[in-house]
Order: sequence, then C-alpha cells, then structure tokens
Amino acid sequence: MSSNLLPPESCINGSIGVVIVGATGNMGKEAVKAVLAQPDMTLLGAVGRRYAGEDAALIAGEDTPCGVTLVSSLVELLSSLKTSGALEPYEHWVGIELTNPTTVMEHTNSLVQAGFRPVIGTSGVEEAQQKTLNRVLTSASLGGAVIPNFAIGAVLMMRFAKEAAQYFDNVEIVELHHNKKLDAPSGTAHHTALSLSEHHPHPFNAALVKEAETITGARGAEFPNGVRVHSVRLPGLVAHQEVLLASEGQLLTIRHDSFNRQCFMPGVLRAIRGVTTHSGLKVGLEHYLQGKE
Ligand SMILES: NC(=O)c1ccc[n+]([C@@H]2O[C@H](COP(=O)([O-])OP(=O)(O)OC[C@H]3O[C@@H](n4cnc5c(N)ncnc54)[C@H](OP(=O)(O)O)[C@@H]3O)[C@@H](O)[C@H]2O)c1
Repeated sequence: MSSNLLPPESCINGSIGVVIVGATGNMGKEAVKAVLAQPDMTLLGAVGRRYAGEDAALIAGEDTPCGVTLVSSLVELLSSLKTSGALEPYEHWVGIELTNPTTVMEHTNSLVQAGFRPVIGTSGVEEAQQKTLNRVLTSASLGGAVIPNFAIGAVLMMRFAKEAAQYFDNVEIVELHHNKKLDAPSGTAHHTALSLSEHHPHPFNAALVKEAETITGARGAEFPNGVRVHSVRLPGLVAHQEVLLASEGQLLTIRHDSFNRQCFMPGVLRAIRGVTTHSGLKVGLEHYLQGKE
C-alpha cells in the first residue's frame, strides 16, 4: 500500500474507522469535514476519481490537510487498508456511499465483503436489493443502513405525514430538487409514498378515480393505494418535499426544505454510529433518532 493511503498517527483519534465513497461530490465533501471533526471517528480513506492523489480535506474546502489522499478505486483502497493492517486499531469500520444509482450496489458489495458496515445515502437502492443486502449483512453479523434522507426535519415531515394521513382520503406528494439530480422520484418521496400507502387503512381516493391522462405522466407516478408523486427539477433548488393532504374544504400541507448539504450531516453522523449497534439492514434515519446529539 502506498503510505499516503494511511492517515497519519495524529489523525487516529476514534474507534470508528470511516471510508467515504463519493468524497469529491457535494455530499461527500461535507461528509469528509463532518467525520474529521468527530473525536470517535477516523477518516481512513476517501474515494473520488476527479481529484485522485489530492488531500481529501483540502478538496472538501478545509484549510489544513488531513493526510488522507483521494483514490479512484474503492476495491484497491479496501485491499490496501486490509493488507497494511490499517484497520486493526478500529473497533468498527463504516463505509459511506454517496455516489450515484448505477454504482451504489457495486460499492456497497465491496464494502460489505471487506467487513465494512455500509451507510447508503445514494438514492435508487430498490426493495429487492435491500432484502438481499439485509440477508448478507445479517449472516455476516454486520449492521448497515439505507437512508433516503439524512435531514432530521425531513424524517419528521415523513412521520407527521404518516400520522396525518389516517385522517385524510386524498394525498399528493410533490418533491422538488436541483436539476442535476440523476433519478426521479427522489428516495425520500419513494419512502414517503410507500409508508403512506402501507399505513392507510384503505386506498386513497386517487386509486378509485381513473381520469384520462391526455399526456402520459400528467398525474404523476402512481404508488400502491393511489399515492401520487410529482417530481420537479429546477436549478437553484436543493431538496424539498411537500405532502398535500386534503378532504372536503380543507388542505393540510406538510413541507420540508433543505437549503444546503450541511443539514444532512447530523443525520450522517447518527447513521455512522447507529450501524455499529446492530446487525442487518435498517431503512430510514428514524431508526437512529433516539435522543439529541
Ligand atoms: N440521503 C440523503 O439525505 C441525500 C441527500 C443528498 C443527496 N443524496 C444522494 O447522494 C448521492 C450523491 O449526491 P451528490 O449531490 O453528492 O452528487 P455529486 O455532487 O454529483 O457527487 C457524486 C459523487 O459520486 C462519485 N461518482 C460518480 N460516478 C461514479 C462512479 N462511476 N464511480 C465512482 N464514483 C462515482 C463522484 O466522484 P468522481 O466523479 O470524482 O469519481 C462524486 O464524488 C446522490 O444519489 C444523491 O441523490 C442523498
């Protein structure tokens, strides 16, 4: 292993060793800064092809280097960490996946095979993949998490919407994101829609009315039980969602706005600590919301 893959002795400050995949992206750069600031965590490695060879903290916008060099291959990083003994000082190894829907599972599988507990923020991990991952993690006695939204306010928005939905027979979800987002609907909207459809005692009214769409998609994506999701993509937005609940003569709007990526970091840190406490896969930050950090 080239020595620049190892954090310097001064960086070894915590019992959780963390690798960040996607460390050159908007989320990954915030995650690098957040992990470096934690006394119980150590950044062991950072993957990002764009700035391979450069210091992860400097690329994330810090003034001082952390000694962790960005690399382009996760597989090579994991094998170097293992063969060099760099993982041994740490009680737990956690890998944060923040790339894109086409690469997330490949990275996750590599992390799990190397004994890392995955925290997946990337959207697009399907239900069947979650089930398989749960089986693999459980048999390896490792914890892992798929977190559709790391923002604590967004988790509360979903919780309040689920509670309110039992009193309404009409619901529409509108999610709004920046125009560089690669997938639609968002993981948060998907998670909200499934949760509302699972917990409503009978189908929402939209499931019963089949109006003609003169242009396909005009009524949004249809989830089970008549939950409709509409995706808006515009420059300048970050991540926003409204759940609109209506009955005759009244409308309840539950809205959450993320204005920057820093808002996701308390949730990222909770999930990193959270996956060290159980085995198998948890879906959603709500599993790690006990107490205030
Ligand atoms: N769960 C949440 O709360 C939450 C919040 C915001 C965003 N997200 C999701 O998190 C993901 C990342 O978002 P972002 O805004 O940070 O995206 P971004 O700025 O586009 O960054 C994407 C990152 O993925 C890496 N990447 C892209 N293609 C890759 C490949 N083929 N192999 C290896 N690395 C690759 C990029 O690195 P290089 O190109 O340098 O290799 C970069 O570091 C997205 O799926 C987004 O929807 C989740």
